[in-house]
Amino acid sequence: MGRVVIVDHPLAQAILTTLRDRNTRQIEFRKGLVRLGRLIGYEIVKSMDVETVEVETPLGVKARGVRIRDLDHVVIVQVLRAAMPLVEGLVKIFANARMGVVSARRVEETHRPGSLDFDVEITYVKVPRIMEDDVLIVADPMLATGSTITSVLSHVLKYGNPKRTLVVSVISTKYGIDRVLSRYPFVEIYTVAIDPEINEKGYIMPGLGDAGDRAFGGS
Ligand code: URA
Repeated sequence: MGRVVIVDHPLAQAILTTLRDRNTRQIEFRKGLVRLGRLIGYEIVKSMDVETVEVETPLGVKARGVRIRDLDHVVIVQVLRAAMPLVEGLVKIFANARMGVVSARRVEETHRPGSLDFDVEITYVKVPRIMEDDVLIVADPMLATGSTITSVLSHVLKYGNPKRTLVVSVISTKYGIDRVLSRYPFVEIYTVAIDPEINEKGYIMPGLGDAGDRAFGGS
């Protein structure tokens, strides 16, 4: 069922503060996103079922431990280009994930100032087949109006019907979250912060600016 998880670990909040700082430069910004991807990954693992297993150690004795079956059934889809560093961090946790990409662009040219609705141009979709026991993670660092992510989800979910569908973002807005959940009530949203406003150009306020430009350079 749909839910919103705020990753409120102090380290995640401290990294986010660095990302918000206008003085944080490109390389540090990218590194921060990687580190957040890893921390969000840890948080996601907490929601996965754990089963007890027994192994034999080199000393010839049994040791009880755990196995997380879902780790072998993760599909990660990244929205180009801003999600790339975030996914680099997620993959450190979900090392066996099958991966997909979607190239999506908010069409600024047709946007009416003040409107919270954007046309979204999807130019490339490459997603592995999604199985019924998969946990699908769709990563996009900024969930502002929800226009991009709902459009991306409509394409990605054509590839199968996963057990769980997670949207991973760094900063979200209530408007964007409500929009995603009203169209896809089963989605679980993992985010590090929920910011109060969206400006007339569709940017999250206070936000962190344009995540793609800050990670990779101006458009
Ligand atoms: N995309 C961004 O990169 N930043 C925002 O604030 C909103 C969308």
